[in-house]
Amino acid sequence: MGLRFLTSGESHGQTLISILEGLPANLDIDIDFINNELRRRQGGYGRGGRMKIEQDTANILSGVRFGKTIGSPIAIEIKNKDWENWQNKMAPFGEKPEDFKDFTKPRPGHADLVGGIKYNQKDLRNILERSSARETASRVAVGAFCKLLLKALNIHIYSYVVSVGEISTSIIHEDPILNAEQAEKSVIRFVDPSKDNELMEYIDKAKESGESLGGIFEVVAINVPPGIGSYIQWDKRIDGDIAKAIMSIQAIKGVEIGLGFESAKRIGSKVMDEIGYDNGYFRYSNNLGGTEGGMTNGMPIVVRAAMKPIPTLMNPLRSVDIISKDPLKAGKERSDVTAIAAASIVGEAMLAFVIAYHILEKFSADNMEELIIRYNEYINYVRSF
Ligand SMILES: Cc1cc2nc3c(=O)[nH]c(=O)nc-3n(C[C@H](O)[C@H](O)[C@H](O)COP(=O)(O)O)c2cc1C
Repeated sequence: MGLRFLTSGESHGQTLISILEGLPANLDIDIDFINNELRRRQGGYGRGGRMKIEQDTANILSGVRFGKTIGSPIAIEIKNKDWENWQNKMAPFGEKPEDFKDFTKPRPGHADLVGGIKYNQKDLRNILERSSARETASRVAVGAFCKLLLKALNIHIYSYVVSVGEISTSIIHEDPILNAEQAEKSVIRFVDPSKDNELMEYIDKAKESGESLGGIFEVVAINVPPGIGSYIQWDKRIDGDIAKAIMSIQAIKGVEIGLGFESAKRIGSKVMDEIGYDNGYFRYSNNLGGTEGGMTNGMPIVVRAAMKPIPTLMNPLRSVDIISKDPLKAGKERSDVTAIAAASIVGEAMLAFVIAYHILEKFSADNMEELIIRYNEYINYVRSF
């Protein structure tokens, strides 16, 4: 069946649960690393009040014993601290409190209206609780496990923000590690921290006028060997899986690999990455972002994602009450002004999952010892090709 995961949980429900199945046994699990990943997702200038309440930590319920995976499904729980304030409003049984109003004013840009129609729910809270990006905490926990698997194979994943609204930077280094180091110094994971003050002012201004902002982040994977993924069938292409995984993150509206849309404007010789050989194959450039023919080609995998502005606006847009059908302003929930920093961490998690999935598909192994033998054999084979 390969590597797969499911998540469950509502934004203000009791807890978030994820189940990750298919990791080989004997992978060392560092719980501090997993919790640090969760902490990284909670950061970023422009976040709303919720992140001050939550201090996410992973409670591993199964699949790990004495710090190592045992091959069985891994269940991860992340408790919602805010549940204390929502227990009777989100209770699985009993009656809804009389003073707690239904959410009937769908927000444009959210799942509220279409979800209400689809699931026949007149209290749109039943939609927004699950469509909320609170779910991305689960993805980051799952992604942390995948990153640990990849680290054991010396594959590493980095991310950084390259634009927030209209503010962008031309300072993007070729070395993704350097970019990521810079981003860790910035209040919003911006690749050029010298712009932090300008960005904070920009975000504050948006907040004051009841507006929100989007942005662009890059996520990069290094040391992925060539030949992961395949061209032989549409659904075996790793570029397709990467695009789907990144696009599946809430509010992502565009995904590019390598030059992406820019490549359409250039002539062929300014796009293709010329091939050289020096004790192994190398490329003179990485315009194609590390994939050719739906396979990795050994160069860094470089993915860009565009996030739309946060749809909950404190100066709300026009909507309609779904009960009275009266025109009114959309509802409000406590909300981020921008979550681009957090989205970049979710991007790391999703890229880690896709690469781990394809690696396990190619080197199918029940335990880490088996995986490392097969993987190293392949690396040697590639060198000698
Ligand atoms: C990390 C992260 C945090 C988000 N925080 C918020 C938020 O606080 N308020 C909000 O309205 N939308 C937020 N969003 C975006 C919405 O979840 C998303 O736009 C909505 O569910 C509709 O999905 P779609 O934009 O993919 O169509 C966030 C997205 C991400 C990735």
